[in-house]
Formats: sequence, C-alpha cells, structure tokens
Amino acid sequence: NNLEFLKGKPSKVNLSVKKTEGKVVDTVDMEDIGKQAVFCRCWRSKKFPYCDGSHNAHNEKCGDNVGPLIIKKKES
Ligand code: FES
Repeated sequence: NNLEFLKGKPSKVNLSVKKTEGKVVDTVDMEDIGKQAVFCRCWRSKKFPYCDGSHNAHNEKCGDNVGPLIIKKKES
C-alpha cells in the first residue's frame, strides 16, 4: 500500500480522544448548529469533536499545517 515507505506501523492520529472506545464516532444534528460550528481535524482538541485552537500548538511543535473544518450557513 501507499504507507509501505514507513517500514513498520504508521503513527497514530488519535493520541487521547475516547481511547477506551473501539472507534470514535460523533454525530451532530444540523439543527443544533447555529451560524457555524468549528470541528477539530488535528485530534488534539480538549473539546473534540469541536476545535479549541490546540492545532496551533501542534503545528508549531511539529511543523504541521492542520486546521479545523468550519461548517457554516450561507450568508443570504
Ligand atoms: Fe484540532 Fe483545531 S484543535 S483542528
């Protein structure tokens, strides 16, 4: 596969979110999203699945460039 170059186990993405669960799945009702919701994609947020800004420290530490997914209502 395309990860063969790593020669071994690829590193984990999720270091701390709900580690006792077999799989982390979150559901958010669209009706509960107001004007916008900001979702974490770096897996470092203390408010997962929502972004709490922790991606900034992660990016500085690792030289990464990850950021949140913003779901918003179109302005009309
Ligand atoms: Fe993870 Fe912002 S804290 S994307």
